[in-house]
Amino acid sequence: MDRREFVEGCTLGAGALAATLGSAAWASTARARSYGRVLLVDELGSPLKASSLKAQTNYVFHYPFEATPVFLLDLGKPAATTQLVTRDKQAYSWPGGVGPSRSLVAYSAICAHKLVYPTKDLSFISFRKGAVVNPQTPSKGDDLIHCCADHSQYDPARGAQVLGGPAEQPLCAVLIEHDPKADTLTATGTLGGELFDDFFKKYDMKLSLEVGPNARKAVATRSTVRELDRFCRNTVRC
Ligand code: FES
Repeated sequence: MDRREFVEGCTLGAGALAATLGSAAWASTARARSYGRVLLVDELGSPLKASSLKAQTNYVFHYPFEATPVFLLDLGKPAATTQLVTRDKQAYSWPGGVGPSRSLVAYSAICAHKLVYPTKDLSFISFRKGAVVNPQTPSKGDDLIHCCADHSQYDPARGAQVLGGPAEQPLCAVLIEHDPKADTLTATGTLGGELFDDFFKKYDMKLSLEVGPNARKAVATRSTVRELDRFCRNTVRC
């Protein structure tokens, strides 16, 4: 991708992963990608305090580009390291949640199936507390991210692993750091199957209308976190 500051980071947990998966399980390993360090701020522009987040509530910010949305969640429970694989058979070790309870996680909000994403007008994809009651597409568990477009279900406590539906890989993880002293959060990069090139290709015209000429510009130093219900006028619940 042209504009990203592409620096391949260290391979997370490669040794443990190899031990878990065996010697010839996968062709290659997905590496963390470092983008700029971006401080998460509240709607007033002040550094967001992680402790101010409501548990099991959808928050949205944009990273690593001005037009690429990310879900920020306090799951209300610890999220442990999880071994995952992209659709291209690249294995990776999602490092788990951050913060004092390891409950804070962030994922690209671009569905890994057909790239549905939350806009200011409409969102088909969101975290749902508890189980989703839908006779046609029963919930594969509690507290999942559901995409109502074609009913893909992702487990945010396990690296956004796919539990149901047509998606072929987990949501791309956004790596965040928690500063225990300041209680702030900083986005630093991504891990897993990025779909940004496909996203910009598919929605080129739409994004230029929604976001303007800076749609593909890297977020510089700060990104505003909003509750999904404040960011988006209509959140579809399937
Ligand atoms: S776009 Fe999300 S399940 Fe199809």
